[in-house]
Amino acid sequence: MEVIHTISAFRQARAQQGQLGLVPTMGYLHAGHLSLVECAGSECTAVAVSIFVNPTQFGPNEDFADYPRDLERDLNLLRTAGVDLVFVPDVAEIYPEGFSSAIEVTGVTEMLEGVARPSHFRGVATVVGKLFNIIQPTCAYFGQKDAQQAVVIRKMVRDLNMPVEVIVAPTVREPDGLALSSRNWYLTPTEREAATVLHRALTHAQQQYTAGVRDGAALRATMRAILDAEPLARTEYVSAADPLTLRELDQVGERGALLSMAVRIGKTRLIDNVILK
Ligand code: PAF
Repeated sequence: MEVIHTISAFRQARAQQGQLGLVPTMGYLHAGHLSLVECAGSECTAVAVSIFVNPTQFGPNEDFADYPRDLERDLNLLRTAGVDLVFVPDVAEIYPEGFSSAIEVTGVTEMLEGVARPSHFRGVATVVGKLFNIIQPTCAYFGQKDAQQAVVIRKMVRDLNMPVEVIVAPTVREPDGLALSSRNWYLTPTEREAATVLHRALTHAQQQYTAGVRDGAALRATMRAILDAEPLARTEYVSAADPLTLRELDQVGERGALLSMAVRIGKTRLIDNVILK
């Protein structure tokens, strides 16, 4: 496994590879990331992982400085997983002095996460666009847990004709349903127990859908009621939206729906979602 810190060295290493699968990450890897690595390994001849805590996708009052980091542990996990190339640039390599460009995807970035985090997707699209240019992957792998991010990246790739196939893999969960996230690390044991409420709310709404409920407001109300019953949870939003446009639905139709939510458990902001087909 080659660990590479500069763009020029990465370009040289990339030139030796054919079909390359990329898993972009911010490190502090968990089984969700490793499932993306496995997916990439089964579909491409070589696998690259980037580890870069991207400052431009964090808002001024968010957790950029505190975001968990452990490079040695990450590299050991990636070595065991059989990864070929790891790109670990520092901030100045990605955003040199004078950097002043950005990729802005409009529309699908404006609701859900985009309300509380207005500059977040601009930062995500810009860094992912740069990583695609540097790494030149054949395929790139993202988790369904960040559902809106996946929609935004697919749209950017289509709108800007980027020669990358985007693959979105299922959310990996703890046995009690909590979606894996590096931010779960912030939860105290009591908060960790309370955090299962997101999955419970989503599962309940999903059961209602299976039982025939198609009314968007009813599905949102079901999720909100379950979240409201958990004293440690503060709901930021619940949504039953069109899976492509992310607009809230009155009725779930042919295209199904994306049920999603952002909930604070103590100081930790968690998101989760399921797709109704
Ligand atoms: O999902 C993430 O970890 C990040 O948003 C990504 C895609 C690596 C961009 O920084």
